[in-house]
Amino acid sequence: KMLKDAFIDTEIQRIRTIVGPVGQVVGAVSGGVDSTVAAKLMHEAIGDRYATYVCYCEHCGADTLICCHPATSFHAILVDNGVMRLNECASVKKMLGDKMGINIEVVDASALFLGRLAGVTDPERKRKIIGNTFIEVFEAEAAKIDKKTGGGKIEYLLQGTLYPDVIESISFKGPSATIKTHHNVGGLLEDMKLKLIEPLRELFKDEVRALGTLLGLDDELVWRHPFPGPGIAIRVLGEVTPSQVEIARLADHIYIEEIKRAGYYRQISQAYAALLPVKAVGVMGDARTYEQVIALRAVETKDFMTADVFASAEWFLTLKKISSRIINEVKGVNRVVYDISSKPPATIEWE
Ligand code: XMP
Repeated sequence: KMLKDAFIDTEIQRIRTIVGPVGQVVGAVSGGVDSTVAAKLMHEAIGDRYATYVCYCEHCGADTLICCHPATSFHAILVDNGVMRLNECASVKKMLGDKMGINIEVVDASALFLGRLAGVTDPERKRKIIGNTFIEVFEAEAAKIDKKTGGGKIEYLLQGTLYPDVIESISFKGPSATIKTHHNVGGLLEDMKLKLIEPLRELFKDEVRALGTLLGLDDELVWRHPFPGPGIAIRVLGEVTPSQVEIARLADHIYIEEIKRAGYYRQISQAYAALLPVKAVGVMGDARTYEQVIALRAVETKDFMTADVFASAEWFLTLKKISSRIINEVKGVNRVVYDISSKPPATIEWE
């Protein structure tokens, strides 16, 4: 614990030294543990200090005043890409903004993302569209914040990069080695000339979780399953339409709710529901139905590079209950299947 306390103090000092007395930092947050722990560290370092730059003053309304009220130098941005989990943006804003006091801006770009995804079925194209649109939206928002804080003051970009991400980006070089394009905001560097601050780049996931606990983050946040940047778009197989996203989102919500209720959430490393691009025949009362299929995935893994299907006799009984809840509550679904593949040869996500 002493070592971890020392890590926090050293990191906070290091951030303050790098950013200096007037520097400003932007950072994308997703509600995941990595970006939240990184944001919390940044907030502790520079989140609430007396700003001395020339800016638009929110208190007195004047345009070029030297502000002397406590102001934040950290600006967290949450981009709503339209393919996030149910109520995700509101709950992240509540947790990071209201509870943790982080200065967070939510940008609703869902229509833009969903518009660009219309008609696209190829998984790699989905990832690229979402990655590029994300950078575009983030940049525009960062530029707005920059203008608001006097212009040219934002010099740094906070990223929640972990040690395995660093290793992976070194070892997976060249398109032939790319299994899936994992998007991150590294591209911003070139365009915005921002300097990176990565306080977690020497840590593994379990260390980040321990750090999160030490920083006072709620257990629910610290132990959250990972969620991919391209979100539900790679869990709606085939074309991503708003109504397909709604089906996958609701099924996923029910699935995770029941997993938590049954006490399995911490044992499972990652679980989610995917919507398959097929229709199946079923029966409801006296009538034949012809509707869609949900696939449930739950894996156990240490490093997400390999993974085993989560399985036990008791778990199977929980799955049966979840299946009937999804079929009863999610309109358009009449069948639920469980994915029993390991990684490799399968991957954790279907796309
Ligand atoms: P796969 O499907 O490659 O997933 O076995 C391994 C882990 O990575 C997550 N994942 C992503 N995370 N952007 C992310 O931030 C992405 O594009 C992405 N694709 C997969 C996946 O959820 C799992 O935890």
